[in-house]
Amino acid sequence: MNLRRLLRPLRSRLLFLIPIAPALLVACNKEDPQSTFGTSGPIADTQASLFIFIFWIAVVVFVLVEGALIYSILKFRRRGSSDDSLPEQIHGNTKLEIIWTIIPVFILIAIAIPTIKTIYDHDGPPSDQGPVLEVNVRAHQWWWEIDYPGEDVVTSNEIHIPVGQWVNFTMHSDDVIHSFWVPKLAGKLDIIPGDVRQLAMKADEAGFFFGQCAEFCGEAHAKMRFRVKAEEPEEFQNWLDSMRRPPVELVSDDAVAGQTVFAANCSSCHATNTWQAPAARNERTRLAGLRTAFIGNIEDSAVIPAPNLTHFATRATLGAGLVELNSENLIKWIADPDDVKEGNRMADLAAPYRNNSLSSDDVRQLSAYLLELKPVAADAVMDTSSGGATEGTAEERGEAVFTGSSGCSGCHSTGSDALVGPGLAGLSSRSSDAEIHQSIVDPSAVIVKDFPDSVMPQIFGSTLSSDELNDLIAYLKSL
Ligand code: CUA
Repeated sequence: MNLRRLLRPLRSRLLFLIPIAPALLVACNKEDPQSTFGTSGPIADTQASLFIFIFWIAVVVFVLVEGALIYSILKFRRRGSSDDSLPEQIHGNTKLEIIWTIIPVFILIAIAIPTIKTIYDHDGPPSDQGPVLEVNVRAHQWWWEIDYPGEDVVTSNEIHIPVGQWVNFTMHSDDVIHSFWVPKLAGKLDIIPGDVRQLAMKADEAGFFFGQCAEFCGEAHAKMRFRVKAEEPEEFQNWLDSMRRPPVELVSDDAVAGQTVFAANCSSCHATNTWQAPAARNERTRLAGLRTAFIGNIEDSAVIPAPNLTHFATRATLGAGLVELNSENLIKWIADPDDVKEGNRMADLAAPYRNNSLSSDDVRQLSAYLLELKPVAADAVMDTSSGGATEGTAEERGEAVFTGSSGCSGCHSTGSDALVGPGLAGLSSRSSDAEIHQSIVDPSAVIVKDFPDSVMPQIFGSTLSSDELNDLIAYLKSL
């Protein structure tokens, strides 16, 4: 029987594959941002090669098994209603049983050897290929906290790495199981709460690589994205340095107004001051404090760990790698975050959204402010004193310290609302100057009932001058 006669009954039924095939092949386009075929680093390379090796073994197995199956179906089919004869029965043929048991054993061994080798090869960065850059990643519903240990650099959702250098990601989860996946560089590793996971990767070429959380983690899982920006080592070092420089002076009136709106509405959760080393070192503790406050009151918490926004305007994306960062998208995002990213916690919890209290002017000003958050040029003359103001009354100067880069207003309201720390209204009736002074420079000595210990950073004794401390105390007593 020739093949054509064999296939004739199937021919019309195979036609349905024609429209489907291109759709299936589209997934193999190397240029797609999340394609695992267009690799840009050694880890993704070996993973793709291993996949292709196993794929071709599977293709051979598929063709042989399906070929035998189709051949048997056609050759031994019932011919006409009067055909009641059975083909020759081979059940219990020992030789055949042994052959088709042994063949899969060899196939599985052929797959297991390179698979196990690859797993072991990928267990951490190689020790003989130069220094390894350490990066900490902490997954949150639904964004990524990033810091560079020893560098005093904190950021979120966009990870800068140098081309050609191995990077070791040490990963934690702050809530549920997430999975860290950069398809073109390496994939993928689950991040399990309470566990520390490590993933090494290297970028062989510069690029802006897509990342995606690859484990279902709640409502906004599909939009829990990020980017890895691989850049030449010098450029990467420039970026690290720029993240430690102060921000440029705000230019537009909207931005200046936006800074006040931000301090009043956003700074409880979002930090913009980690260009200062003490604030960068404290950022993890601050976010952990917000986390504790959130867990203590999940339904009604006014605070939750939120992405660091230091030098936000230098980023390319918004909403955890979701959309391009530009004024139009940012205004849309601030005006209605849930419309851009359903389920995100800001829309759920933040007071301005709960109370619907942001006016369209506020939104425009906030956007203008955030889009001016970028570092001064490397050669700009820096005045590193954090206060600097010598004009106005002590209370006015103290207010500047409170709402400015010290970040007090991030955790304390000036009314009686409890945020991360207690509200400060009426402080002078409760505490003496000396007590207020001590609670600023040595917070763990004075813990207000029902507030957690070790949340407030022990840094203000060194970051604030004694003049600034006195001004701050004068301001606090005026509340
Ligand atoms: Cu995080 Cu899915």
